[in-house]
Amino acid sequence: MTRKRILSAIQPTNSSLHIGNYLGAVKQWVEFQNENDAFYCVADLHALTVETDPEVLRSRTLAAAAQLIALGVHPEKCTLFLQSHVAAHSQMAWIMECMTGFGEASRMTQFKDKSQKSGSERTVVGLFTYPMLMAADILLYQADYVPVGEDQRQHIELTRDLAGRFNSRFGKTFQMPEPYILKASSKINDLQDPTSKMSKSASSNQGILDIMDSPQVNAKKIKSAMTDTGREIRFDEKEKPGISNLLTIHSSISGRSIADLEIEFAGKGYGDFKGAVAEVFVDYFSPIRERALDLINKENELLDILHEGAKKASEVAGATLESAYSKVGLAR
Ligand code: TYM
Repeated sequence: MTRKRILSAIQPTNSSLHIGNYLGAVKQWVEFQNENDAFYCVADLHALTVETDPEVLRSRTLAAAAQLIALGVHPEKCTLFLQSHVAAHSQMAWIMECMTGFGEASRMTQFKDKSQKSGSERTVVGLFTYPMLMAADILLYQADYVPVGEDQRQHIELTRDLAGRFNSRFGKTFQMPEPYILKASSKINDLQDPTSKMSKSASSNQGILDIMDSPQVNAKKIKSAMTDTGREIRFDEKEKPGISNLLTIHSSISGRSIADLEIEFAGKGYGDFKGAVAEVFVDYFSPIRERALDLINKENELLDILHEGAKKASEVAGATLESAYSKVGLAR
């Protein structure tokens, strides 16, 4: 297979990534970087859509980069950078905003959900134009694949619509990106409310498995996860959402199939099974957490890596921006 261009990003909206971010997206980033030309960014500009203390945003941004590296995103195998370090993202976002219909943007479900929760007076315009900045992130790199969780599908559909619209109006400029969404782990659910997505903004603290939490805290959360009536360990998302979610988590971390786990736990109780999930989780994430904590303390090293990444990213992004600017008729 020829090398493909990959682009993905994560928002630094918390001091820790959660297991949904890892299994839904970052684990695939790590796999893609070996054989492909991958660009991964911390979407710090996107995080400005939520009001955050400046010091907190800064430290979350660097902590997100440290966690990505600790999870296996290797700065020598891919290009890792901060969105705000590459000016072309904001510049291309304007072009995308001028290509997007107001009604079209109003139909984005994440915008509808979030703006309904906070009310129109407290919703910033940046939340409305957020998907156009995301389209810019993707199209600037001529990405073939965008590895994400299910919740980003609609944004990538919009990106595809914008790429198609631009290309047909002004001539082929952008590669048409494809979402890369793994069926098995594209929606990890909340431990306390296993029919809803695990989410930094919506889940209660007890429902979220943060990779930077201590092993004891996470083991406890897993052991007190909401389970279903009955006592069988069986994958059935409708009847047994809690157990199915834990099976997905175990299987995605351990690499064992769900069928295999069902056989191993046949006749055993929920307690035994949750204990096993906690063990797999803790064994896997404890060294990752240590590595991330170590990197977070080496701020200069981290910034050097990110500046190096931004240089490489700017070359690719700058060329695409120039081409788009001249295609739309901005005099060069
Ligand atoms: P963000 O920061 O909310 O999440 C980062 C990645 O984690 C995935 N994810 C999940 N996957 C499975 N189960 C879950 N419970 C779960 N929660 C989150 C997300 O789908 C995502 O892949 N808008 C994006 C960031 C972004 C971006 C981009 C992504 C900005 N520019 C360009 C791709 C390409 C976001 O808010 O993801």
